[in-house]
Amino acid sequence: MNKIIIQKAVNLWREGKLVAFPTETVYGLGADAANSAAIQAIFTAKQRPTTHPLIVHVANLDVAAEWAYIDERTRKLANAFWPGPLTLILPKAAHVHSLITSGQETIGIRIPRHPIAQALLLAFGGGIAAPSANQFTHVSPTTATAVYAELGDQVDLIIDGGECEVGLESTIIDLSQQEPYILRPGMLSQAEIEERLGCGITVPGEFAKKNKAPGQHLIHYAPRTKTILIASDEIGLQLKKYIDEPVALITYSQMSIVDYSNLHHVCLSALAKNYAHDIYRVLRELDDKNFSRILIEAVPDDIEWAAIRDRLTKASHR
Ligand code: TXA
Ligand code: MG
Repeated sequence: MNKIIIQKAVNLWREGKLVAFPTETVYGLGADAANSAAIQAIFTAKQRPTTHPLIVHVANLDVAAEWAYIDERTRKLANAFWPGPLTLILPKAAHVHSLITSGQETIGIRIPRHPIAQALLLAFGGGIAAPSANQFTHVSPTTATAVYAELGDQVDLIIDGGECEVGLESTIIDLSQQEPYILRPGMLSQAEIEERLGCGITVPGEFAKKNKAPGQHLIHYAPRTKTILIASDEIGLQLKKYIDEPVALITYSQMSIVDYSNLHHVCLSALAKNYAHDIYRVLRELDDKNFSRILIEAVPDDIEWAAIRDRLTKASHR
């Protein structure tokens, strides 16, 4: 990436401005995490309630230690998965502004591995607070064009790094308590993390009952078009119901679909990794086309589809 762009972004951050940038998961809307006015501007641009805390992005573990308490467990996961699509919830340092943490004693930290994110964070030196660069509850952007569609001129600079590699938001693990919890499943799987941690992690369903987990209000990661999840063996039946409407259908299994003239069919990969890479872009494209509904084939119950299942369930809950 052009050094001039990196320097321009860093200068804007130092002036308290907003810069959207690519990470390997989704695009982030970044501001200087030490500048409370800049952090407030993130909430305003996204129309996000301040009850939803922000993740602070840093270049390396040394900078992370300026923002959070790093214990042995954290070091283990950091060594294994950072830089990468993992966010850890840790006890916060005393100076952290309460807007970042929503007044909690914990802070979300991530070291992203996208080379542009790395270059930006290294050049900035400090922490960058960055939620996904979309309007509150909408689908996260996986391209620079999508960021512009969501936030327009409210962002001072959007850095184009092409399509995000992972396509879904990071896995979030709460390490702030004795027992680790998974707060948001991601493409970095629970099994991989448990293996490194050497112990089990409590799963989202169980956690959500006890605590306030991110993205737990029912609609999240959602297109504006009414979106419905359908079991594979019910697709034929459901399509007949909507025969007179312009309907979009997303599947992953190689089933044969009766070709109604009103139907727009997108078949995504049957591999979870590739499906995750494409799903937000496809949802966004379909959302722009005035379909009466987006029907989505429910994805497999397997562990590698956990994050996709989570997002689709939230996108379709009405
Ligand atoms: O992949 C990602 O994580 C992207 C990229 C840009 O890094 N970021 C992202 O941020 O998805 P956001 O704000 O859209 O989602 C982060 C979630 C929020 O639902 C927030 O509530 C939760 O993380 N979170 C942040 N700090 C937290 C904390 N201290 N305790 C519990 N949840 C926290
Ligand atoms: Mg988000």
